[in-house]
Amino acid sequence: MLELNFSNMMSEVIGEKGISEKQVEALKDKVAKAHDGISTRKWNELAFIDLIKQDTSEIKKIADDIKRESESFLLLGIGGSALGPKTILEALSPMHNLKKTPKVFIYDNVDPTTLDNIMSVIDLEKTTVNVVTKSGSTAETMASFMILYEKLKGHAERFVATTDPEKGPLRKIASEKGFRTLSIPPAVGGRYSVLSPVGLLLAEVIGVSADELLQGAKEMHDRCLEPELWKNPAYMFGTLLYLMDVEEKRNINVMVPYSDRLKPLSEWFCQLWAESLGKLGMGSTPYPSLGTTDQHSQLQLWMEGPEDKVIVFIKIDDYGVDIKIPEVFKDTPIGYLGGHSLSELINAEEESTELCLAKTGRPNMTLKVPVIDAYHLGQLFYLFELATAFAGFLYGVNPFNQPSVEEGKNFTYGMMGREGFESKKAEVEQARQKKVCWRL
Ligand code: PA5
Repeated sequence: MLELNFSNMMSEVIGEKGISEKQVEALKDKVAKAHDGISTRKWNELAFIDLIKQDTSEIKKIADDIKRESESFLLLGIGGSALGPKTILEALSPMHNLKKTPKVFIYDNVDPTTLDNIMSVIDLEKTTVNVVTKSGSTAETMASFMILYEKLKGHAERFVATTDPEKGPLRKIASEKGFRTLSIPPAVGGRYSVLSPVGLLLAEVIGVSADELLQGAKEMHDRCLEPELWKNPAYMFGTLLYLMDVEEKRNINVMVPYSDRLKPLSEWFCQLWAESLGKLGMGSTPYPSLGTTDQHSQLQLWMEGPEDKVIVFIKIDDYGVDIKIPEVFKDTPIGYLGGHSLSELINAEEESTELCLAKTGRPNMTLKVPVIDAYHLGQLFYLFELATAFAGFLYGVNPFNQPSVEEGKNFTYGMMGREGFESKKAEVEQARQKKVCWRL
């Protein structure tokens, strides 16, 4: 089981810059309302909770076919339709393409260089293209899909569409052309969809058990049914970041996993937290980081810079492998390292960084992960999703929409000539006029 240690967030441990038990207790009514909102599904989009009990047989069947028939698996998607799969790939099959087939590529941008590079190293005839988009219409994903569709000369059997069961242009095209399809439940939004076929198909394709991911999520779910804040890790995680933001003006949270494999997890979390809560002038800013690497890049700022941050460490108990540092150069200043191991060193660095921050009253908390596997990754996904939804209740914002992202999409549609978006094109052209005055 994961453990959330938030001692270094509390004033009893780090002094006046911490949060007092009284501050936490004062939120009791809000917490009770949030718990009620979650239990009674105040928002339909809380349907991500139901993913833990989904039937994975169709996902497994399609994954088996892909493994049999493909050398490469190319996922096209963006935002919530790509960051989750990326996290699963990196965490559970690091350096995948150097070790295993099918090789996996995730194209989540419209940078022509990247797609050109991908297409230059894969044999398209032996590639399965998984088009992942909840709306079925996102410009970036649709553009790359159209390119691949033409390159594959319409070979329907090479495509798997993961999209809404009924709505959206991709669903219609998939039915007409006869693509294999997987459905994202209608009420599950992009950034809460990693445990749907969005992430689970890729998991099975790379040999990771979808059921284990769901089992981990289910156990975290069961733990988080607890209404009492002090016993509920998701509620406590959300509450602490919320209190640090609104009461202590620490409106930046930095997620620092001490594992290369979990770097994409912090990027996935950043999208989840930012897009869900950054509304109505509220929300704290998440930024992804990496231990120990960023101790040599960011730590100075965290220690002595503005008092506006909370650091969230992710510590790994067991890396699954370890490498001993040989006892060489004994009579030199580096001799002390010999005989220890890399996991000892990385854990010592994590603990030291926690302590340095705590000593100067800089709040931080630590999520302890026993081992990086599907079960514990499932727990992490669920913990962060529930904590974010819960924080939405505390902030009083809808954590499931993204109105401002939609506006950007609409301007792009206008510029690219989509019918019905002519006024958006006119707005862009007008704005261009204003941008001509100050240029160097
Ligand atoms: O969380 C969200 O809803 C967004 O980040 C979407 O995932 C992103 O915009 C991509 O949308 P879609 O899956 O509809 O292509």
